[in-house]
Amino acid sequence: MFFYIKQKYDPKYSMLSDVNGDLIEAFIAVRDKPRELIEKLEYFNEKNSEGFYYKIREKFNQNRITGIMRVAAFIYFTKACFNGVYRVNKKGEFNVPYGYYKNREIYNKEEIMFASQLLQGADIRVKDYNEILQHVKKNNLIYLDPCYDPLKRTSFVHYTKDRFSIQDRTKLYEFIIKARSKGGMIILSNNDIVDVKNLYSAKGFNINVVEAARCVNVDPCGRGRIKELLITNY
Ligand SMILES: C[S@@+](CC[C@H](N)C(=O)[O-])C[C@H]1O[C@@H](n2cnc3c(N)ncnc32)[C@H](O)[C@@H]1O
Repeated sequence: MFFYIKQKYDPKYSMLSDVNGDLIEAFIAVRDKPRELIEKLEYFNEKNSEGFYYKIREKFNQNRITGIMRVAAFIYFTKACFNGVYRVNKKGEFNVPYGYYKNREIYNKEEIMFASQLLQGADIRVKDYNEILQHVKKNNLIYLDPCYDPLKRTSFVHYTKDRFSIQDRTKLYEFIIKARSKGGMIILSNNDIVDVKNLYSAKGFNINVVEAARCVNVDPCGRGRIKELLITNY
C-alpha cells in the first residue's frame, strides 16, 4: 500500500509502523543501507540449502545474529521458507520449515534499490497502532493491515507471539472509531466475515469486498484468490 500511494500521490509525510521489530528493521535497512543489505543477501543466496536454513533459523531465534546480517536473514527466511509466511511460536521464535523451492529468487537487486528510493524520508518505527492515535490529524490517510481476524480455528494469526484474538478485534475497532473522530481517513483490510461487516456497517463505514491473492492457509484448496474486505469511512 505504501509503495502504491508513494508512487501515485507522493505524500509529503508517511509513517510506517508495526510491533514486529525485525520487520521494521528490514524496512529501515532497505531505506538506509540497500547496498550493504544486497551484499549480505547475496551471501544467503549462495549458501541457501536446507541445512544452512535451519542453522541460521536457530541462530536467529537465539539472537546470535544482529544488525544488517539479521535483516538479511529475516528477508532470506521469507523467501526460502515454506509458503513465504512469517510465523512465530508462543516464545516468539520463528518456526516456519524450509520451503524446498528450486531456483528461488532470494532477493532482487533492482527491487530493493527502487524500494529504497521510495522509502527515502519515510518515518519508520516499531510502534503499536494505538500509539499512532496521538499523531492522527484531519484528513490523514491511515491504512491498517492487521493480522487476519480469527475467521476459523486455523486462520493465520501467528505474526506475533500474542495471537490476534476477538479482544484484539474489539481494540482495533475502538482505535478506528477514535481515529475517525479525529478526522482520519481509514482503510482497514480484513477477512470477509459477517461479524466484522456488521460491526463496521453499523457505524456507517463502507464495506468493499475485493478479491485478494492468498497462500497463507493450511488447506491448499484455500489458496489462490479469496474474498477480503476493505473497510473505509470515505
Ligand atoms: C498482515 S501482517 C501485515 C504485514 C505488513 N503490512 C508488511 O509490510 O509485511 C499483520 C501485522 O500486524 C502486526 N501487528 C500485530 N499487532 C499489532 C499492534 N498491536 N500494533 C501494530 N502492529 C501489530 C504484526 O506484527 C504483523 O506484521
